[in-house]
Amino acid sequence: MKFFIDTANLAEIQEAVDLGVLDGVTTNPSLMAKEGIRGTDAVMAHYQAICDIVDGDVSAEVIATDFEGIIREGEALADLHPNIVVKVPMIKDGVKAIKCFSDKGIRTNCTLIFSAGQAILAAKAGATYVSPFVGRLDDIGADGLGLIAQIIEIFANYGYATEVLAASVRHVPHLIQCAELGADVVTCPLNVITGLLNHPLTDKGLATFLADHKKVNA
Ligand code: E4P
Repeated sequence: MKFFIDTANLAEIQEAVDLGVLDGVTTNPSLMAKEGIRGTDAVMAHYQAICDIVDGDVSAEVIATDFEGIIREGEALADLHPNIVVKVPMIKDGVKAIKCFSDKGIRTNCTLIFSAGQAILAAKAGATYVSPFVGRLDDIGADGLGLIAQIIEIFANYGYATEVLAASVRHVPHLIQCAELGADVVTCPLNVITGLLNHPLTDKGLATFLADHKKVNA
């Protein structure tokens, strides 16, 4: 399973890279705004900075919602760096744009997926990734992980090459369950990745090992 970090914060991206387990980055307009990145030049420079840090796919989201606008923005983003994956929302013009990008060899991540039907459409259009939002479905009392399982089963039925990128992964159990289900990728904040390190018995065991070593090496 690939680990993507879901942030536009360069320090967090660098920390995940330094841990040695990062395969890519996803961003969205809210995450870019959180970092205070505004204006096309600043946005493009920030994506370039992310690509300079990470050797892996970097999802960069279009803002346009009309076909021509999505194509224009997506082509500009794709031209920035070979690792850029154009993130396109699950809307009618988005699906048309994904098909067009796919025909041109531009890789895409279809975002804001909340149903199996949306995932099928995106896969048929040739999306590289689909991003079902686990946490946001859980937020409204729906079954986010159930959707991941459903999409994985459907894609396997037809041998779709589109990868299932579990997004809106909010905590360690989410990530583990996505791994059990066989999601191709998870994207999550840094604290979820570093949260995988933690177990009280590890802390206790290490403290004992070090104390025993000290006793005979004092
Ligand atoms: C996915 O690409 C989105 O950026 C993200 O995972 C959304 O997560 P959230 O629901 O925690 O905002």
